[in-house]
Amino acid sequence: MATMEANWKPQFLFAVCQHGAEGALKRELAVRAPQLRPAFSRPGFVTFKLDEPCEEAEKFSLPSVFARTSGFSLGSVKGERLHELARQVWELPEVVAFLRSARVAGLHVWQRDEREPGDRGFEPGPTALADEADAALREAAPIHALPADAAGRGHGIPRNRWVLDVTLIEPGQWFVGCHRTTSRVAVWSGGVPPIELPEHAVSRAYLKMAEALEWSSLPMSKGERVVELGSAPGGASQALLDAGLEVIGVDPAEMDESVLANPRFTHVRSRTVETSRKVFRHVQWLAADMNVAPRYTLDAVEAVVTHPGIHIRGMLLTLKLPEWELAAELPAYVERVRGWGYKDVRLRQLAFNRQEICLAALRSRSQRRVLRSAGKQREPRRRADDGHASLPAPHGDF
Ligand SMILES: C[S@@+](CC[C@H](N)C(=O)[O-])C[C@H]1O[C@@H](n2cnc3c(N)ncnc32)[C@H](O)[C@@H]1O
Repeated sequence: MATMEANWKPQFLFAVCQHGAEGALKRELAVRAPQLRPAFSRPGFVTFKLDEPCEEAEKFSLPSVFARTSGFSLGSVKGERLHELARQVWELPEVVAFLRSARVAGLHVWQRDEREPGDRGFEPGPTALADEADAALREAAPIHALPADAAGRGHGIPRNRWVLDVTLIEPGQWFVGCHRTTSRVAVWSGGVPPIELPEHAVSRAYLKMAEALEWSSLPMSKGERVVELGSAPGGASQALLDAGLEVIGVDPAEMDESVLANPRFTHVRSRTVETSRKVFRHVQWLAADMNVAPRYTLDAVEAVVTHPGIHIRGMLLTLKLPEWELAAELPAYVERVRGWGYKDVRLRQLAFNRQEICLAALRSRSQRRVLRSAGKQREPRRRADDGHASLPAPHGDF
């Protein structure tokens, strides 16, 4: 692979987030990456300018909970016709300069979210228009620019390769960028994992849990037990069951009959505080998805994981953010979970989250497992990313 030439020093960045999360993203980066200045912004898409050109583009990553995906901006094009837009992309001076110094292993093309996930049936992910744009871009690509086998959405791109990104801000306005596949989520087009809601799913929480499992890569094994606090009607429990786990759902509300019929599912019909601690014995994992304030979720979880005789190895917690301002509390939440003995705590607003974020916790980082190639092979006890430097993070790297 060609190494990056010293003369390509990008100064603009883009980040993709949930519709409505732009303010939270900007406030977060104002603290964690003060060398960035917000520039162009649309719902679900924000660009930033670095105070000086980036010297080590290959090592750069954005320290953000709210950015689904991010990278360097290479310009934008406007036009009426797909093929004209595609041709213009390959002629952008920044794209030409980038392609002179880097070998591209993949092309990600996606459409900016129309609405919040789950709103009137909308879910982030592939669209027909993005697929058409992808085809037009490949057709218009100069031979040297994009190898014929360049991977796209749903195809594996190895780690530590460059991907060319094209975001359809509007059908007639495309933003072009590039990013390195330095993490598990960086191989997902637009930061959205290739997950579809299966027909048997009883709620869209299935998507959230399936994504949480993919992103966090907790070292769960088939047959291990997980308790889910706030399990009704049962979509998330189904995703855990489909992953081969034994699931105990704690919720005063009714579970869907199809979930109750699964012999690997047990319903404890009570509120978390009223639930006997015996339920949590011989349980390795804890999930929570209660429609309550984050502090209440953390209180409930703390009472479980710090109880003598209970040994929870790791957790996937949904923390609701009924007001975006609660995002300022995230570093405090992380510290609180670390205080219970979980040293590896990560946060991400998942693509299928609504106004909420996912917290993944493990007792130590060495427990994480990693996908080495194209999202297939799982190897235990290795770091999930390659330890690339990110911008300084005053509140710790989560
Ligand atoms: C967003 S729904 C959960 C969706 C569910 N995870 C799924 O996959 O379908 C929130 C649930 O939290 C439950 N809940 C709220 N407070 C609770 C508590 N203190 N203990 C247990 N469950 C609680 C509610 O009854 C409700 O069913």
